[in-house]
Amino acid sequence: MKIAFVSTECVPYAKTGGLADVAGALPKDLENLGCEVKLFVPKYFLIDEHKHGLAFNWDIGEMPISVNGKIRSVHVHQSKLPNSNVEVIFIDCPHYFHRHRIYTNDLDEDERFILFSKGVIETLQRMQWTPDVIHCNDWQTGLIPLYIKDNYSWDDLFNKTASLFTIHNIYYQGRFSKSSLFAAEIKGDLFYPGGPVEFEDGVSFMKAGISFADMVNTVSNTYAHEIQTPDHGAGLDGLLRWRKDDLYGILNGADYDVWNPETDIHIPYHYSHKDLTNKIKNKKFLLKHFNMPFDEKVPLIGIVSRMVTQKGYDIFADALVDLMQLNAQWIILGSGEDKYENMFRSLSNRLPKKVGVYIGYNNELSHLVEAGVDIFIMPSNYEPCGLNQIYSMKYGTVPVVRKTGGLADTVKDWDEQNHYGFKDGNGFSFNDYSGYALYKSVERAVNTFGEKDVWEKIQKNGMKKNYSWKHSAEQYMEIYKLAMEKKGA
Ligand code: ADP
Ligand code: GLC
Repeated sequence: MKIAFVSTECVPYAKTGGLADVAGALPKDLENLGCEVKLFVPKYFLIDEHKHGLAFNWDIGEMPISVNGKIRSVHVHQSKLPNSNVEVIFIDCPHYFHRHRIYTNDLDEDERFILFSKGVIETLQRMQWTPDVIHCNDWQTGLIPLYIKDNYSWDDLFNKTASLFTIHNIYYQGRFSKSSLFAAEIKGDLFYPGGPVEFEDGVSFMKAGISFADMVNTVSNTYAHEIQTPDHGAGLDGLLRWRKDDLYGILNGADYDVWNPETDIHIPYHYSHKDLTNKIKNKKFLLKHFNMPFDEKVPLIGIVSRMVTQKGYDIFADALVDLMQLNAQWIILGSGEDKYENMFRSLSNRLPKKVGVYIGYNNELSHLVEAGVDIFIMPSNYEPCGLNQIYSMKYGTVPVVRKTGGLADTVKDWDEQNHYGFKDGNGFSFNDYSGYALYKSVERAVNTFGEKDVWEKIQKNGMKKNYSWKHSAEQYMEIYKLAMEKKGA
């Protein structure tokens, strides 16, 4: 099977969140299952050409591509995804991608991803490579299914190409004013109230993706159901219910080439579920890094996350006073909205021995936090999949999560499990979206930390669980087949 995998971020080149982890991992497992995969990403300014061995593609040369009535010059660079033969194709257009951030609030944000989407299709044309499936991810690639069915349908190359659109977060929809229709050369007759690209009198790229893709999926089963409800569908729940027969949930995996405490290149002491003694050394190392004291009896709680309301920082703020009274220390890594950054900054200023904070993005530190802390909290309001709870389990770090989306599908509450006589709980979870419920779960975790045998059992339950991409990649193969059947290929 030939797959064109299209993503606007990808580890190790450019990352803002979990989509980059997915794009850097899933194609490798698809390849292991026998697929031929080409991976398309924009060539952002911040991508280091030399470090990642990018080579200019002279065969393709210059591609003139029109966006918003102007012709832009586009080139292609290539490389191989580490630990694989997956060809990575970088779409280069300095006018749009040589900016200081991956995503911007610039007025031409729509144009940037129109260019990328067309760039992917025109590169396929120049290569004369027909994918069986174009696998699009999130709103930035939402126009591609529409383009191959409409604007580029004249090209026989795509006669048999099916499309899959994966929703990683329904709240980021790529919504723009009507002028985007012209910029993207979307035909006017596709734009009408309630139509496939219209949203509140503007254009939604995500809606286009959901409307035109042959199949649609999201990144956990629970989230696939949640987004069909008004509470979590962000206005697209009606459309998703309408497409429910073509909508699947496939849980993300973890790339254990990168996230494995036995081999992780970013942590000083390696360990496995067979012997956890080195985990404590990482904890000491991490605390020293933040100039905080070490006490074996005091659990260390970690957060690594975008600091946005999605992630539950409003209820964290509600519970702040109580949480700080628990006998625990905290390490917090993240960046995002000012109010949350300031909340955490002032916390560490007031309680420097109890709370260590790093505001910003730091990949190496994120690995060290996973290895060094005892408890990891994710009180998300909604969470399509969430990767850090999966990484945490591998690192013997016990997750405390709100039961939503992928968090509900991966974390089994220890107490509830015991109650039913099972012993395979791997974390702590709560239902109510409230500061009180969060506090009570963290309190349970902190109290359980004191019972060494029980704690080790919970840690090991998590560490032994296998969330590698292999299983998810097999499910993607199934959905690709369904998409191809729909396309009549
Ligand atoms: P989302 O994609 O919604 O941000 P995920 O849990 O799927 O959430 O993935 C987040 C990814 O981004 C994880 O790999 C996490 O380690 C990483 N990450 C988030 N914030 C930071 C940060 N400040 N520094 C380093 N890595 C971060
Ligand atoms: C999104 C979601 C996150 C998910 C990630 C990768 O950013 O917020 O829950 O894990 O995409 O699919």
